[in-house]
Amino acid sequence: MMSKDQELRKSAYEEIEKHQSLVESDPYRLHYHIMPPVGLLNDPNGFIQFQGTYHLFYQWMPYKTDHGAKLWGHYSSEDLVHWTHEEIALTPSEWFEKNGCYSGSAIEHDGKLYAFYTGNVKDEKGNRESYQCLAVSEDGIHFDKKGPVAHLPDGYTAHFRDPKVWKQDGRWFMVIGAQTEDEKGAVALFTSDNLMDWTHAGILAGAGQEPLGEFGYMFECPDLFDLDGRDVLVFSPQGLEAEGMSYQNVYQAGYVTGTFDPRQGTYEHGAFTELDHGFDFYAPQTALDEKGRRLMFGWMSVPDQNEQDHPTIAYKWLHNMTLPRVLTWQDGQLYQQPVQELEALRQGEAVEHQVTLSKESRSLDGVDGKAVELMLSDIDVAEGWMSVAIGGNARILYSRGQQVLTLERQSYVDGTVEKRQVEVPQLDSLRIYVDTSSIEVFANDGACVMTARFYPSVQDTSIRFSSSAAVSFYLRKWNLAKVF
Ligand code: FRU
Repeated sequence: MMSKDQELRKSAYEEIEKHQSLVESDPYRLHYHIMPPVGLLNDPNGFIQFQGTYHLFYQWMPYKTDHGAKLWGHYSSEDLVHWTHEEIALTPSEWFEKNGCYSGSAIEHDGKLYAFYTGNVKDEKGNRESYQCLAVSEDGIHFDKKGPVAHLPDGYTAHFRDPKVWKQDGRWFMVIGAQTEDEKGAVALFTSDNLMDWTHAGILAGAGQEPLGEFGYMFECPDLFDLDGRDVLVFSPQGLEAEGMSYQNVYQAGYVTGTFDPRQGTYEHGAFTELDHGFDFYAPQTALDEKGRRLMFGWMSVPDQNEQDHPTIAYKWLHNMTLPRVLTWQDGQLYQQPVQELEALRQGEAVEHQVTLSKESRSLDGVDGKAVELMLSDIDVAEGWMSVAIGGNARILYSRGQQVLTLERQSYVDGTVEKRQVEVPQLDSLRIYVDTSSIEVFANDGACVMTARFYPSVQDTSIRFSSSAAVSFYLRKWNLAKVF
């Protein structure tokens, strides 16, 4: 007889077999963003460079394009550009994870890869239990489950998940996304000396405490790390109200910075800043690589945000990751830049134009396509506005007067034009990655980022530049390779 684990694996691989050519045939399938071979992908998990190789695990529902009892799917890469789909890492085969091997992280210890994740358990009435579990791997591919290692402490509901583990001053620390009994979002801290026995060390942030105050009912996917001398806590709060240009999506993803005291287990920190100002970004996770870079992947979607309306569902797949981004802290600001390795995607020489526009809308020779990188530098918008329209569907618009950068798209739900905005006092550069149905915009060297899925008509490869007054910039454009 097959074990539960064998059954779950077998039927996942059968789903790939069955639908591979349909997924392949989708004009909106991505060329260079990580996407699932079939089914639904959500959070990045267990991101690590282990024995030289990058491993990115992910929340995976291979059996349908919806959420459910998640597996850990697995991609590996030598260069962050070309990825191999590896064997399934974890299936929800045991009692302590039967409703999903939920999100978590990976560390290296004694030459082995330790993966910490949440075992999600629900009974027939929908009552939830949450176990923080460990699985150990010698080769980064095959895992030996050790079962639950941290239990739900008093004072929290069972919305307690997404362990992120790191080592500091000779001890192990774990942050967990949590909801307190009075239904406030929080980050819980655990410590351990041996990775097997974990002790609750209190609340690190949230729970209605200052400086965040009232700040939603649940925090997901926390990640605490040093970035160029400051301790950054990334998390994804749920339950924030929209406020001006901020918090426009159903749920948010952002960070606070401050000082973590590993001896006291306390964290002094400041206000919350969103990481991405577009439509589709959530549950990011970082890893420190062997080059010393703090790398981040985000999930290019938001839970409960029109997920079932994506046209890719007809082709049996849903959602993808962002590009890998390098985080740095410069001049009091967090920067996100696509990793330099992505230059390997460029096909041939750049098409280059010194562009001047005045009250006009036009295309440029050789500047179009479905999978391209655009680099606009030395941007000079003295007055009025300029815009870049992609495939007649998405538009990046900068208004000098309002000092606002806007990302517009035609809604994939009802076709209306919707927008996200962020204040940008002066626009100097724009790096835009277009990948059939995804767009990532890095403004001012990554000081400001906007990410979205969009669905231009399949034949429309146009890229158009417009302005309301005299504008100039230097443009470079590359076609990018298909690696997925
Ligand atoms: C975030 C999240 C996590 C959870 C996982 C389940 O998107 O809800 O909190 O572990 O997804 O797939």
